[in-house]
Amino acid sequence: MVNDRKVAVVGCGFVGSSSAFALMQSGLFSEMVLIDVDRARAEGEALDISHGAPFAHPMRIYAGDYEDAADAAIIVVTAGAAQKPGETRLDLVNKNVAIYRSIIPRIREVGFEGILLIVSNPVDVLTYAAIKMSGLPESRVIGSGTVLDTARLQEALGDHLGVDPRDVEAYIIGEHGDSELAVWSSADVAGVPLEDFCEMRGHFDHEATEARIVDEVRHAAYEIIARKYATYYGIAMSVQRLCRAIMGDEKCILPVSSLMVGEYGLSDIAISMPTIIGRGGIECRVPISLDDEELGELHRSAAALSEVIDRAQL
Ligand code: NAD
Ligand code: LAC
Repeated sequence: MVNDRKVAVVGCGFVGSSSAFALMQSGLFSEMVLIDVDRARAEGEALDISHGAPFAHPMRIYAGDYEDAADAAIIVVTAGAAQKPGETRLDLVNKNVAIYRSIIPRIREVGFEGILLIVSNPVDVLTYAAIKMSGLPESRVIGSGTVLDTARLQEALGDHLGVDPRDVEAYIIGEHGDSELAVWSSADVAGVPLEDFCEMRGHFDHEATEARIVDEVRHAAYEIIARKYATYYGIAMSVQRLCRAIMGDEKCILPVSSLMVGEYGLSDIAISMPTIIGRGGIECRVPISLDDEELGELHRSAAALSEVIDRAQL
């Protein structure tokens, strides 16, 4: 039996605790279990966050174990090592696959029937690993993927154009990492093709601006980690957005990471594409059109991920 008012967060470091804080404020759930190998950490975060609940929504928040998460509607997994300055997300693969081998089988053992939301990095590889290790249907294992990168792109374009970032329709797809790409060919603002909208706002140097903005998005996490050693607020809001999409059965389109089954000639990897999200998880990937250059970049991104998956022997 799934309890639609219950969420669990595994891993209560920067990302897990910020996500828990965002979820407490969202009003989406009335019960939240925090799980961490460092039990004291989970207890401390649960206490701290629970003291904010009277200002937001009534909620029971406690440190628990996998048995407590068995009936959760969503388990958000943020456990694992984070990048140190200079490290890439893919550098984390061995450590975090080993950590997932101690977490995902536990989730499987308790008979979890909800949606598994993977956040730890490298998120595409760990989404693939979680599908394999959990035995859950692919539709119920979602990687946060490039939801955060797409938010970074919308924010940068909104700032450049002087419009609300929510009105910018532009996606980052591919790996959540160094090989990700922006889909410029179909980007628009309120239905106006992006480059036309740029000209309307007095910007004409499209190629240089697009190159600068995608570079900023690709390097955003490195810039933040170099200054404050971790990123967590942006991803916490992304987790909240994804949980809202799932619990509200929104059928909204978000660029999450999921198992490809032949789309764009890709299979046996998890990678981000715009995807319809509802109460059952992944409903379907949206076959957005890509120009030849974008398709080539997507294939290079997928090849980079396949190589890491092969080496990790998942
Ligand atoms: P952190 O070191 O602050 O927290 C990690 C937590 O995981 C710690 O509390 C640790 O005790 C716990 N943990 C480790 N092994 C565990 C296990 N076996 N079972 C349960 N808990 C365990 O790190 P962080 O900054 O919170 O980052 C967590 C992960 O999220 C990293 O992999 C990071 O790269 C990733 N991340 C992903 C995104 C994204 O967009 N997908 C964004 C930011 C960070
Ligand atoms: C991010 C993490 C590090 O903020 O993946 O993009």
